[in-house]
Amino acid sequence: MFEMAERIKKLPPYLFAEIDRLKEEVRKKGVDIIDLGVGDPDIPTPKEIIEVAKKALEDPKNHQYPSYVGMYEFRKAAADWYKRRFNVELDANSEVVSLIGSKEGIAHLPMAFVNPGDYVLVPDPGYPVYPVAAMFAGGEIYKMPLKAENNFLPDLESIDESILRKTKLMFIGYPNNPTSAVADENFYKSVVELAKRYNFIVASDNAYSEICYDGYEPISFLEIDGAKEVGIEFHSLSKTFNMTGWRIGFAVGNKDVINGLGKVKTNIDSGIFQAVQVAGTYALNNAEILNRPIREVFIDRRNQMSKALKEAGFEFDIPKATFYFWVRVPSGFTSSEFAKKMLEEKGIVVTPGNGFGETGEGYFRISITNPQINEAVKRLKSAI
Ligand code: MLT
Repeated sequence: MFEMAERIKKLPPYLFAEIDRLKEEVRKKGVDIIDLGVGDPDIPTPKEIIEVAKKALEDPKNHQYPSYVGMYEFRKAAADWYKRRFNVELDANSEVVSLIGSKEGIAHLPMAFVNPGDYVLVPDPGYPVYPVAAMFAGGEIYKMPLKAENNFLPDLESIDESILRKTKLMFIGYPNNPTSAVADENFYKSVVELAKRYNFIVASDNAYSEICYDGYEPISFLEIDGAKEVGIEFHSLSKTFNMTGWRIGFAVGNKDVINGLGKVKTNIDSGIFQAVQVAGTYALNNAEILNRPIREVFIDRRNQMSKALKEAGFEFDIPKATFYFWVRVPSGFTSSEFAKKMLEEKGIVVTPGNGFGETGEGYFRISITNPQINEAVKRLKSAI
């Protein structure tokens, strides 16, 4: 038996892998499962994207190693989309890097900039990859609690100056996973100011910008004056085009940060399969048309879920964006107890809030990437 490295020994089980494991145990007992756990859209990738990919698959020039930073056409499509969608100007050559999904970029970024002892500020609750990536790079983790009373935004004023002076990197992500909260210009302005004052990098995770409701259009961190001097933003084709399995995303913004991330990647991976990049280029160049029907599906489900949860007496804010509901655990349960009971007794997979960090205790997350909404809520209600 070989002993694992300390960095692995320190790791908690990866949240969604652990949920998958428990789900399989329960399924084996014959329970009919409705999975509202991981945010993995059940609807297929638009067929036009698949057709483009099929053609690209036949082309032998796509069978060789791709370029490290990504095909120029893909990076240009990302830059053009940022201009159309957010009015942010980007140089496709120096300010865009392709990623094997934004998770990959998030995981590698600290390796380029964080030295042992440097602080990395991460939201709590938050996407589990942020603290793990910081820890792998030897960084110290400072958790920024996201609380209902602050609209699930970090209270920047409460971060001690002694921490800020040692901070190298801050992760933020709005529309937010898991709370579904959104951020406005004023919040991003405060982040830019703080980053400039204490000279740290901001990594904004904007994976959910296109899953939005009621006419609300999330903004990009990079729209703020001075943001490009301090940070980058991640976007993923996973949620925008139902392409989670294709593994394609990108990071844009500050050229030195993009260059640093690119350096790590060049030494670790060899880019994204070109046929996938060709499909991604098509998707981004036609984003407005391709994303519209996807939004419509989630708007319907968001409305259905809001109604059903409300009628069942659950406490939550109606999401303006993302496909997540951040719901208060009924009294008498911890987050884990509730999630476990739902899975074992009712076959419903929800994600316990504390799986995203200790401040998530008292909540559970529902993902509407499953159409069986009324049946799921009926079962949730019957368990309490
Ligand atoms: C989630 O459920 O939090 C996300 O799907 C995870 C991811 O995007 O990797």
